[in-house]
Amino acid sequence: MRIVVTGGAGFIGSNFIQYMSRKYPDYELVNVDSLTYAGNLENFKDIDSLANYSFIKVDITDSEQVSQLFSQRVDAIVHFAAESHVDRSILDPGAFLKTNVMGTQVLLEAARQHGVGKFVHVSTDEVYGSLGDTGTFSENSPLASNSPYSASKASSDLLVRAYHETYGLPVNITRCSNNYGPYQFPEKLIPLMILNALEGQPLPVYGDGLNVRDWLHVEDHCAGIDLVLHQGRDGEVYNIGGNNERTNIEIVKTILNYLNKPESLIRFVEDRLGHDKRYAIDATKLRSELGWEPQYSFDTGIAQTIQWYLDNRSWWERVRSGDYREYYEKQYSSRLGDRL
Ligand code: NAD
Ligand code: TYD
Repeated sequence: MRIVVTGGAGFIGSNFIQYMSRKYPDYELVNVDSLTYAGNLENFKDIDSLANYSFIKVDITDSEQVSQLFSQRVDAIVHFAAESHVDRSILDPGAFLKTNVMGTQVLLEAARQHGVGKFVHVSTDEVYGSLGDTGTFSENSPLASNSPYSASKASSDLLVRAYHETYGLPVNITRCSNNYGPYQFPEKLIPLMILNALEGQPLPVYGDGLNVRDWLHVEDHCAGIDLVLHQGRDGEVYNIGGNNERTNIEIVKTILNYLNKPESLIRFVEDRLGHDKRYAIDATKLRSELGWEPQYSFDTGIAQTIQWYLDNRSWWERVRSGDYREYYEKQYSSRLGDRL
């Protein structure tokens, strides 16, 4: 099996390639990524030498580059490539429409023309919008996205559906809750708070800190995608989530506690625009149809993740130089002022 993994140099994509290369040494895994600020080939220093892994620099919005990719056989595509950060989508929505919507369409078209056997589209629970204090999202919940990021992902989900309904392309859509784990870019809540805490910097908590996210370790997400890739029924959507709901402030306090840092580092800052209150996933379909079971409890997963950042200082020091600094200042200077 020759699998193209788009966005394979990002957080989840690189974890997925590592997971698959260990589990299926006979598969050929082709990492296709344009290496935006979020893509990092250093995530592969351990598997670069593996015979079954290769990297090709491709921008998925460029149909010529994408069609060249298909000059060799492609059995399946697992599509992670995206602009993925809500705060950046509030600052600049255009890039999200280009990559997430147009880029997905370019790939779908190439997949259709070349008769690709499976197209797994990796989406998010954020397409369902926000929940109140109770309830969960099922695969039948209406799409009600609130941020430019989630609207672009919902649009791409509908295109994937359309390519199945119209052209019979064998697709699946997975919608996962918030991921955490090794190699996550430190613009997202958990790594940002770990690294700020380690350096004694303020921890910027939006609003009252009571927004709730449903956290899943990235390896459990990868295992879910693997099952969908091999056994998912064509045209079906599968939710992925691990019943680990936490308020943001609980997460931040857990991290401070693990690192033995004071809660006086916490700053409640101006809220995110259109901030979704709560996400929670019902993953019954994936569990009962495909036998998926998450392996990590939140306590084990967060401890492993914090330890990974402690053990991989050179990785995150390089990631945080350059562009990251500029973004951090844009996003947090008015929120943190001279405490930045
Ligand atoms: P990420 O931002 O870490 O990685 C995205 C990758 O896509 C990067 O390597 C980047 O270089 C690449 N990319 C961006 N634009 C590209 C383009 N035009 N052409 C080729 N490559 C391009 O994101 P992530 O957190 O790993 O998320 C991966 C996917 O999973 C996304 O589709 C996201 O919507 C989805 N998802 C993420 C989460 C989460 O909690 N992080 C949860 C559910 C779903
Ligand atoms: P994030 O990791 O950006 O994921 P998402 O918005 O896709 O859920 O944010 C997770 C939660 O943490 C979200 O409610 C926003 C909040 N948050 C903060 O309070 N401060 C921060 O600096 C960041 C990045 C996020």
